[in-house]
Amino acid sequence: MEKAAPDSVATGWVAEMIRPLSDQGVGTPASFVSKTFRLDRVGGREVLRISALGLYRCFINGRRVGHDLLTPGWTAYDKRLSFQTYLVADLLVPGENEISIWLGDGWLRSQLMWGKAPIFNTWGEHIAAIAELRAAPEDRDPILVTDASWQSGELPIRKSGIYYGEAFDARLTPVVSAGVEPLPFDSSILVAHETTPVRELVPIEVVRSWTDAEGRTVYDFGQNLGGYVAFSVKGDAGARVEVEHGEVLDQSGQFYNGNYRTAAARFEYTLAGKGEEHYRPTFTFQGYRYARVTISGNARLTHIVSVPISSVTEVKASFTSANPLVNRLVLNTLWSQRSNFIEVPTDCPQRDERLGWTGDAQVFAGTACYLADTQSFFTKWLRDVVADQREDGAVPHVVPDPTRLKPQDYPGFFGSTGWGDAIAQVPWQVYLHYGDTAILRETLPAMVKWVDFVWSISDGPIVSPPRQWGGRGFTFGDWLQPSGPSAKPLPTIGDDAAATIYLFITASLVGRIARIVGETGIAARMEDMASQVKSAFAREFVTASGRLAYDDQTSYALAILHDLVPEEHREAAKDYFKSTILRSEGRIGTGFIGTPALLPSLVKIGEPGIAADVFLQEQVPGWLYQVKMGATTIWERWDAIAPDGSIYNPQMNSYNHYAYGAVCQWLFEGVAGFRPDPQDPGFATIIFEPTIIPELSPVAASHDSIAGTIKAGWSVEGETVTYDVEVPDQSRGLLRLPAGARNAQVDGQAWNGGDEPLSAGQHRIVFELAPAARLGLDKLDINARTP
Ligand code: BGC
Repeated sequence: MEKAAPDSVATGWVAEMIRPLSDQGVGTPASFVSKTFRLDRVGGREVLRISALGLYRCFINGRRVGHDLLTPGWTAYDKRLSFQTYLVADLLVPGENEISIWLGDGWLRSQLMWGKAPIFNTWGEHIAAIAELRAAPEDRDPILVTDASWQSGELPIRKSGIYYGEAFDARLTPVVSAGVEPLPFDSSILVAHETTPVRELVPIEVVRSWTDAEGRTVYDFGQNLGGYVAFSVKGDAGARVEVEHGEVLDQSGQFYNGNYRTAAARFEYTLAGKGEEHYRPTFTFQGYRYARVTISGNARLTHIVSVPISSVTEVKASFTSANPLVNRLVLNTLWSQRSNFIEVPTDCPQRDERLGWTGDAQVFAGTACYLADTQSFFTKWLRDVVADQREDGAVPHVVPDPTRLKPQDYPGFFGSTGWGDAIAQVPWQVYLHYGDTAILRETLPAMVKWVDFVWSISDGPIVSPPRQWGGRGFTFGDWLQPSGPSAKPLPTIGDDAAATIYLFITASLVGRIARIVGETGIAARMEDMASQVKSAFAREFVTASGRLAYDDQTSYALAILHDLVPEEHREAAKDYFKSTILRSEGRIGTGFIGTPALLPSLVKIGEPGIAADVFLQEQVPGWLYQVKMGATTIWERWDAIAPDGSIYNPQMNSYNHYAYGAVCQWLFEGVAGFRPDPQDPGFATIIFEPTIIPELSPVAASHDSIAGTIKAGWSVEGETVTYDVEVPDQSRGLLRLPAGARNAQVDGQAWNGGDEPLSAGQHRIVFELAPAARLGLDKLDINARTP
């Protein structure tokens, strides 16, 4: 049964949104609505379009419609609700038919947000369904619609929730016990689902299992992910299988999930006692690597697998090098993207959060566009960002935003620089990767409202955010920026500098975007704001010696990458920047917003060797430390597990946050060295500019871009570098060799210096390059100060 084209049914909706009267509210048994109907004949082009408040799964004559998961999906339900369209002829029969739509709490009303202030019924108290069946897509009138004549009843799903998990009693069968009630519903908010559906990926078998002291069995699937376990079981009616989920083992190797906070994250299956039974959840998913199974009563599992689910079903890039830790880091980033691209780009898939955090999405967007085709995924999400944006332009911290309709416990949960900037940064990446000007045009008004909001925080070019959470313009700053030993903390960036830098970054970008879409008036205004911020930044945060006020890695990385340091201070600022790296013994000193800028800015100041040292060092904080400690996804915190195996404070410690995986953008664009040209986006023109790190040789990367497959890789023999690139048929390349490259040959021809155009096809570039200056960490005397 295939999916029908989303907008194949063009006419307006006549069906009603009907709620099951069997439903007792959030956290109670799930319900179904159903209808039996007669068909004289099945024409073969019957099409069903369907949506729901809450999550739905539809069955016709007992057979499931489609394979999509967590439908209709997650959007800002009060303003936008997705629907799906399916060709269902193969499920229908001439004569009596029965349609049943199962409904679960889902994101609509199960718990969202955390701790002492969980939110329930965020977008409504009632689960409900709306559906129309037509004999053919072009038919104006449906042959069946949801209306007051349908019936309802309870399901064997006794409780379900995104965080909670699911309880299923297989002894029960769905029985009609009540009618339905049409709800007041504005069908104009229904939109055809805008991206790839959530689907199951290849299941993963158990790699190790053991029984703990309490007789429970712990299964290790070897891969942390977002998804669910699926098992088969045999036993007596009434026997129960309980499944708990964990991402890591504690210091003594025991099952651990203290970091899930108030997310119960469990499944309970009660056996019907009818031979081999099979279970996987319907209305939830969990984030985990380990599953702990408790069986009560006489039953035994005959099989259990881990089923990853994601909106990302195809991998569009690869990066390999001589360093297995680096290669695993890329794989961990991919798994964190898969785990957190489930309808919405979320922060994490396991604890009582799993929210569309804007800051995380903006720093990760570039990487996300390499590893997968995210054009429609981000387009859908950006429309919800616009829907949730506040009147005064403030962009919320999370989208879809539960606090817009339920602000009481989370007042002012919007307006953070570095987070709200997703409204400009994410469309920009979609434009660069897919040449998509439509998304720029569509989101530009929201971008401008955001820049005006940030300017209004302190009514001027220097942004001074309030300290208190929920204050207007509160910022997360450089969230989770490491500050070294508590006894002698390292400098970190101040909120005012972080906010002011981001105002400059985004005002400049929105000006550029406005020019691209021909909005010259807006462009001029944004560019003027940006230049005011630039000169104010120099006055406020650049000292006479060229040191930046907060003198931390994030300040230098962002200011240097975005050309905020005045010309006359650039050389001095470079030295101060280097000393922040020396001060931390070559370790990372950046958080969520500083980290993506750290390595590119070091290469920009002509220190690829220092960038290599920082990237390749294996101590905490560092990218490779977590891989060495056994991570199979990206950690939220650099120090999530200490070298002695002890686990960091569970209050905020996810082992599956993609934010720090944003370094992969640098592996593709910086190290392998290919990126889209903003002048000619969508990889119509590809800029090739590698950064040579001899320890990683050979490096090989590829990306299935919208323009075709791009390849780039290099190997180093002594001081000779061989750089092989492949330019897709419809594209052209622009070669930029690293500073210091000499005796270069392109396809055997002498390189003429400057940007070298490359035609479609394969090219071999050979050049010599002296090893870059390194930090010399091994002989580093931390007390030495330069200058
Ligand atoms: C989330 C992050 C988010 C941060 C900002 C955390 O709780 O998990 O993803 O960026 O809060 O405060």
